[in-house]
Formats: sequence, structure tokens, C-alpha cells
Amino acid sequence: MSVQRTLVLCKPDAVQRGLVGRIISRFEEKGLKVVGMKMLSLDEELARRHYQEHVQKPFFPELVAFITSSPIVAMAIEGENAIEVVRGLMGVTDPQKAASGTIRGDFGLNLTKNLVHGSDCLSSAQHELLLFFSPEELHEYSLTLKAWM
Ligand code: RTP
Ligand code: MG
Repeated sequence: MSVQRTLVLCKPDAVQRGLVGRIISRFEEKGLKVVGMKMLSLDEELARRHYQEHVQKPFFPELVAFITSSPIVAMAIEGENAIEVVRGLMGVTDPQKAASGTIRGDFGLNLTKNLVHGSDCLSSAQHELLLFFSPEELHEYSLTLKAWM
């Protein structure tokens, strides 16, 4: 198992509903480490670059309209197998199908307004982290409780 970094976005609905703190807590409580964090508003260009794999999909216009509609909170999260672990904590894409105990399963009902994004593989994570963070915005530090996790 390797230590990985992944991009998490708290989407506009998470910010508007005041759920950002609770979402961050899910990752912190798991033992993952937040190594970068900022609030920003996506413009259409960044939204298109971030979701470039979906450009041809019928839901793409709705997805871009939603993700650019209000500020988001972006996080770089680090930990062992972080990409898969984060996706597990988020739950599957459709909140109505996501298991209870996951972020989407507990807080969402709507396929577009599904609260969070997490990179889906190593190459996506590397690409997406570069889109949202400059190297100096990502921090190297040790968690002193790591030996107990
Ligand atoms: P995300 O990229 O946001 O973390 O979500 P995901 O990997 O679970 O799902 P993905 O397939 O990458 O889809 C990106 C976002 O597009 C919306 N979507 N709508 N109407 C539809 O059929 C449909 N399918 C996907 C979702 O909001 C999803 O988060
Ligand atoms: Mg995705």
C-alpha cells in the first residue's frame, strides 16, 4: 500500500448547506491528512479542464452550470491508498444509491448536487492536483498521532 495524494472538492451545495466542516471531519477522523486547502470559484474554463472526460456527455452542461454556480472548497488529501479510501468515504456517484455512513449517502439525494468530488485514479489525482494547487500550496508535515492510527 502506498501513500497517495488526491484532490477532494466540497462542491457548491456543500458550501451553501454549511456541510464543509462535517465533510472535512470525515476525512480527518479516518486518519487522512489535509495537505492543502482553499476556497475558490470555478470559471467555465477550469470546470471544463477538471471534467474534461465528461465533455461529450449529455449531463455536461448541467454539471458545469452547477460546479460554477457558487464557491467550492478544494483540498489535497494524503494517506495510504488515499484515492480509493476517499472514494469509499464519499460513496457512489448517485446519493440515492450511496450507502449510509458515506458522505453522499448521509447528506444527499440529487445526482448533480452530490456534495463532493474525489479523484478516481492516480493519473487523475496527479492531473487534478496540478489544476487546483501550486507546489507551494501543498504542505509536507507529520501527524504526531500517526503511530496510533
Ligand atoms: P466526481 O467526478 O464529481 O467525483 O463524481 P464521480 O466520479 O462519482 O462521477 P463521474 O462519473 O465522474 O461524474 C461526474 C459528475 O457528473 C454528474 N453526473 N451526472 N446525469 C447523469 O447521468 C450524471 N452522471 C454523472 C455527477 O454529479 C457526478 O458527480
Ligand atoms: Mg469523477
